[in-house]
Amino acid sequence: MRRKVIVGNWKMNKDIHETANLITELRERMKDFRNEVDVVICPPFTSLVIAKALIKDSPIKLGAQNMSQYDEGAYTGEISAKMLTVAGCEYVILGHSERRQYFNETDELINAKIKKALKAGLTPIVCIGETLEEREAGITDKIIITQVKGVLHELTATEVEKLLIAYEPVWAIGTGKNATPDQANQVHKLIRKQVGQMYSWAIAEKLIIQYGGSMNAQNASSLLSQSDIDGGLIGGASLKTVAFMTIIQTGVEAYL
Ligand code: PGA
Repeated sequence: MRRKVIVGNWKMNKDIHETANLITELRERMKDFRNEVDVVICPPFTSLVIAKALIKDSPIKLGAQNMSQYDEGAYTGEISAKMLTVAGCEYVILGHSERRQYFNETDELINAKIKKALKAGLTPIVCIGETLEEREAGITDKIIITQVKGVLHELTATEVEKLLIAYEPVWAIGTGKNATPDQANQVHKLIRKQVGQMYSWAIAEKLIIQYGGSMNAQNASSLLSQSDIDGGLIGGASLKTVAFMTIIQTGVEAYL
């Protein structure tokens, strides 16, 4: 059975003081947690170092929200994969729809970033998902398959075994309108089938596919109990410790 992975994407929220408060609260609530699911938080870059210190000796792991496709050099404003690993990150979110939408990230660019992240030993959380127009036009499957092919372009089987995919329908992100468990599960199955065709069924079966888009304390149970939903990429609800902890607990129950 695949382990659930619950990831908090803090987006552009929380300065270092607020980061300290949120992590302290979360650790307090996680006192009795016994590691049945993987829990990752992805604060903004400026909070990574302090977050690393604050999660010491806890089950919480650290991730970043983005990184450069380049190793180093004259790229003002960018952060490299090595900078993230040295700061203590194990994960990095790549290709989030907000990066695609506001910063023009393409499957090709995301593919280049995935390769760099893997070389540096980071676990990429690769985001894909259709827009509302695409869903309404009935081309969700086509879009998803194109994105899977694009982001995984020329990756080896060994590389694909090391990454996670997050299915995040764009229309569900931050809107309070989550995909129904069945809608999400169907797309997760499609992603798994596509990876199975490109690599092998053994790899596809092991692949962690998270759902993201308005997951909260109320809907987590129905989503996380689906056959092919292996966790959540959580935005808004990850900023509230009670809600985030409820989702973690739901992940634990779905695994038991
Ligand atoms: P949301 O964001 O949970 O606030 O919808 C999810 C995400 O963008 O990863």
